[in-house]
Amino acid sequence: MRVMVIGSGGREHCLAWKVRQNPSVKEIFCIPGNGGMSELGECVALSSLPEIVTFAREKAVDLVLVGPEGPLARGIVDLLKVQNIPVVGPDRNAALLESSKVFAKKFMERYGIPTAPFHIFEEYEEAVAYFRRRSEYPVVVKADGLASGKGVYILNDLDEALDALFEIMVSEKFGESGKRVVVEDFVQGEEATVMVLLDGKSYCFLPSSQDHKRVGEGDIGPNTGGMGAYSPAPITTPSVWDKIERRIVHPLLEGIQAEHLFYRGILYLGLMIDQKENPWVLEFNVRLGDPEAQVVLPRIQNDWVDLSFALWKGELDTVRLRVDAKEALGVVLVSQGYPGHYEVGKKIEGLEGAKERKGVFLFHAGTEKRADGFYTAGGRVLNVCALGENLADAYHKAYEAVSEIRFEGMYYRKDIGFRALKK
Ligand SMILES: Nc1ncnc2c1ncn2[C@@H]1O[C@H](COP(=O)(O)OP(=O)(O)O)[C@@H](O)[C@H]1O
Ligand SMILES: [Mg+2]
Repeated sequence: MRVMVIGSGGREHCLAWKVRQNPSVKEIFCIPGNGGMSELGECVALSSLPEIVTFAREKAVDLVLVGPEGPLARGIVDLLKVQNIPVVGPDRNAALLESSKVFAKKFMERYGIPTAPFHIFEEYEEAVAYFRRRSEYPVVVKADGLASGKGVYILNDLDEALDALFEIMVSEKFGESGKRVVVEDFVQGEEATVMVLLDGKSYCFLPSSQDHKRVGEGDIGPNTGGMGAYSPAPITTPSVWDKIERRIVHPLLEGIQAEHLFYRGILYLGLMIDQKENPWVLEFNVRLGDPEAQVVLPRIQNDWVDLSFALWKGELDTVRLRVDAKEALGVVLVSQGYPGHYEVGKKIEGLEGAKERKGVFLFHAGTEKRADGFYTAGGRVLNVCALGENLADAYHKAYEAVSEIRFEGMYYRKDIGFRALKK
């Protein structure tokens, strides 16, 4: 069997690693892949969707796994479906659940899914007029379209709100993505991620997780693509799970069916759990989270290729997910300066020793393989993940492995999992 993995981050390395565990997988094509993925398969740099589809056809690829949201939002599933090439993910229209926050909010409203009360604005002047009347802060303003995790503003007063609106709607910082904005109430609570496999008829929960988006310890400083994660998130108690299932996933499935959305993939629920253990949906993502996948997938005992085909064929109802009771924690090693300016091309030392540790998994992100070893090639460089008897054990295993790795300007947070570890 030949599998194609689209993407170049830690999530995609983790997917390729998981797929490699299936003995019938003979070849993996990584589009474009990274240093770590180059050890598991052939990395091929293809940029346009038609090129990717043509390549998949020529190589007789049996299964396509898509890591990031971009190709899904641009319609990779639509193109592969026409060719009858199995792929995991929603089509372009269903991907609007992530690629348009306006679509997602209205969808949630139609099906009674708990989400923060909101308003939508298409005209800058109307949004300004609204804010001149509004007195409750903080408030959240979101650019409608994809914005690489930078399109969400949390604002404390009118001045901040007006600046944000100007940036999004007038300066067009996010281009087309900022043509419309969602303004929504701020929800207090603790965040958690729950990813669900969906085949349009059935669903299957993956274990919960939590990530750390801010660059600094204690969750301060600028947002990043993610500095670390752990699974499970203790905030998702059985009562919370029950509400996620009844209040969110059931109506979601009803909506997907009623609106004939083609969704055979993974849906990521970005949740806020409030004081009363009520889950609110902050956002949907139409794919695995990064770095959440890197702590969730190592806990899944099912074969990922089998799961993927069950999704594609709409046979999820025949699947029983087996989850390792061990807990997982992952630390992201980044280049100094990230998420701002950083340098690349630094030699990475100590990977072998770290990788050989029991229960430790290294997933590469921005790395490049050269003749004499691995070099940094991005802001987020490596995910050092560990499985432990409990979260504290996973924490120690992961950080011990981190201590073996060195590269010039290496930075990481030392407090991944702090909220859960405190409990
Ligand atoms: N209504 C809200 N109340 C409180 N915090 C929010 C709210 N909406 C978003 N956030 C915060 O902003 C972050 C980013 O928002 P999100 O909707 O996930 O957008 P994206 O991931 O596309 O940037 C969330 O992870 C959360 O920390
Ligand atoms: Mg988010």
